[in-house]
Amino acid sequence: MRSLIDIRDLSTQEIDELIKTACDIIENPEKYSEKCRGKKLATLFFEPSTRTRLSFEAAMYELGGNVLSVSSGSSSSAAKGESVADTAKTVSCYADIIAMRHPKEGAPFVAAANATIPVINAGDGGHNHPTQTLADLLTIYREKGGFNNLTIGFCGDLKFGRTVHSLISAMSRYTGIKIVLISPLELKLPSYIKKDVLKKNGIPYSQTTDLLSVMPELDILYMTRVQRERFFNEEDYLRLKDSYILDVKKLETAKPDLCVMHPLPRVNEISVAVDSDPRACYFKQVLNGKYMRMALILKLLEEAEK
Ligand code: NCD
Repeated sequence: MRSLIDIRDLSTQEIDELIKTACDIIENPEKYSEKCRGKKLATLFFEPSTRTRLSFEAAMYELGGNVLSVSSGSSSSAAKGESVADTAKTVSCYADIIAMRHPKEGAPFVAAANATIPVINAGDGGHNHPTQTLADLLTIYREKGGFNNLTIGFCGDLKFGRTVHSLISAMSRYTGIKIVLISPLELKLPSYIKKDVLKKNGIPYSQTTDLLSVMPELDILYMTRVQRERFFNEEDYLRLKDSYILDVKKLETAKPDLCVMHPLPRVNEISVAVDSDPRACYFKQVLNGKYMRMALILKLLEEAEK
């Protein structure tokens, strides 16, 4: 059974096809409005979410399907001690496809190993978030026309930021990519990603704590929230949370066609005044996420029927 746990589960060609489908959905939404008639998506979210869960649900409704939803761990049998494996087996009896978010790294992988229907990882702890990456990729494609020859700055919590981990992994397939890692020393990109992704694919990268010094070279600036829920103590969070605040002044030296991205939710990382700058792309990401999730649900359900 085909699931999506890691962005590397999709080939470059499959990502291109998903983008093509998403663009077709944008152009011809009526063509897709009955495609999932009679099908059910279960959204199992054991961690807070606004965009990811609602965009999955909106995606399924726009495909003519239905949705079953668990929107917090405390409202499901997980609170009674049920295992992820048993939950996956149970939900397989009711639904055709699962989107799961879980605080434990690897939980969607365990779910996929036990479910009889496709499982989509909607974020597992500080590990991966492949469908945010699909949203990010469609945004980059629509803003930049492609994926090659881009210098991408990732700024903020690169240690716990799962969207960063998945997007770096996806971008490392393309040519002419340069990565600039901007973070406090305590929140640097984990070394396993540097080794297994950046070094392995020969992607040039640099690390700095200073956003302003690298601003002029960036084609994309991917801002992130400091992931409070992954910290062991509140003191460290409070010390690090406002390390980077992007404001209008800081954008003065940026390229005129810079693309400012953020998976959201934003706390303080981007001042609201930046929202009206044409370079702000983060609300476009939100919408693109729904189209890519529609394309993904279609693909996985079609493959499950084969
Ligand atoms: C992200 C996540 O959950 O990892 N949010 C999202 O899905 N768009 C980013 C975050 O929570 O900071």
